[in-house]
Amino acid sequence: MTTLRLGIAGLGTVGCGLLVLLRDNKAIIEQRAGCVLEVTAVAARDRSRDRGIDLSGIAWADDARGLATRDDVDVVVELIGGEDGIALDLVRDAVGAGKHVVTANKALLAVHGTEIARLADVNGVHVGYEAAVAGGIPIVKALREGLAGNRIKRLYGILNGTSNYILTQMGQHGAPFADVLAEAQELGYAEADPTLDIGGGDAAHKLAILTSLAFGRPVDFAGVHVEGIQQVTPEDIAFAAELGFDVKLLGIAEETDHGIAQRVHPCMVPLNANIAHVNGVFNAVEVESDQADVTTYVGRGAGGGPTASAVAADIIDIARGLRLPLFNMPAGELRDQPGAPMDRRFGCYYICLHVVDQPGVIADISAILRDHAISLESLLQRGRDPGERVPVVLTTHDTEEAAMMEALKRIAALDVMIEQPRMIRIENL
Ligand code: HSE
Repeated sequence: MTTLRLGIAGLGTVGCGLLVLLRDNKAIIEQRAGCVLEVTAVAARDRSRDRGIDLSGIAWADDARGLATRDDVDVVVELIGGEDGIALDLVRDAVGAGKHVVTANKALLAVHGTEIARLADVNGVHVGYEAAVAGGIPIVKALREGLAGNRIKRLYGILNGTSNYILTQMGQHGAPFADVLAEAQELGYAEADPTLDIGGGDAAHKLAILTSLAFGRPVDFAGVHVEGIQQVTPEDIAFAAELGFDVKLLGIAEETDHGIAQRVHPCMVPLNANIAHVNGVFNAVEVESDQADVTTYVGRGAGGGPTASAVAADIIDIARGLRLPLFNMPAGELRDQPGAPMDRRFGCYYICLHVVDQPGVIADISAILRDHAISLESLLQRGRDPGERVPVVLTTHDTEEAAMMEALKRIAALDVMIEQPRMIRIENL
């Protein structure tokens, strides 16, 4: 049997998970790959750290960038992370040197994916990145291979496990966002700096990649509308349940009359939607295509095992001789398509207002909605406390985002408003 030689950059959770996987599943992986897989070189920040893994016989590279040009490395596995810096240098250099690359780096591909795709085409190498999107779920494979004969109409998904865990806990225990976040950090689910997770940036990186795969356009991370879950309250989730919805942070990419929409924000989804049943740290993606109809993918989006599983699958693909263009077609075929402006989003809205309980409040709110041609679908007012705070919850029929935002601005300015209105978009899934 021939030997495929791997150089691994980054020995954190995923890098160590990969070494364990390659050791524990060696026989079956090599049967499937049709060759011997040998890790010939590794690079990581701290050489002295005890990782509980035997690294004897493996060359240590002090500078990860050096892996790109080593004669004893056929495939560079980039598990460093970060959109720029060493990771970008390494991937560029490796592809430029004609080496295949496997990466788990969503930020890098979301920002530099089109450039890497061009470089990979020119150098005839395969770039595998299954681990970059939704960890152990083979969604890149699904789009690049299984659904390659379809026109994709829309895809949406829970692309961040940390946010999904927090929303699930808030819903199940009625606990406020800040408390659940602190608990998630203690349990090690959320990073010490959880900004990318809870702010929607991590999901946006993944969505930008999925959009290019699905719609054949260059990656446009800057074009993703991003909102996180920081403003969602347990009260919203309780009202959502009463109205027949759950609250999820979704990444949505769809073809609209105004262009390709890419958006990440909290959504109300019907309780009977598949995605409403995906709880805790799990991820899910649904793809709506013209021939296969709706296909659904659920699994773990993070962690050493699931992410290493995706990296290993890419390595096996390379060993088997699979060579695919990065975004489903040669980079030269990717077509710029206009991005749909967020203010043209058309759909229903949930609004939660905390107002002073006094006659005429609902009339004032309704008048504003009427002025913007927004039709109410339902209105709930709970409690009676004259002169004090009461919540008022509205849901609307389909309307354009621009009208909703204008109306919300006027509602927020009413004297009776005790706190900023909260809005969650209702998605028709
Ligand atoms: N931090 C991500 C999550 C996993 O919480 O899903 C890696 O992208």
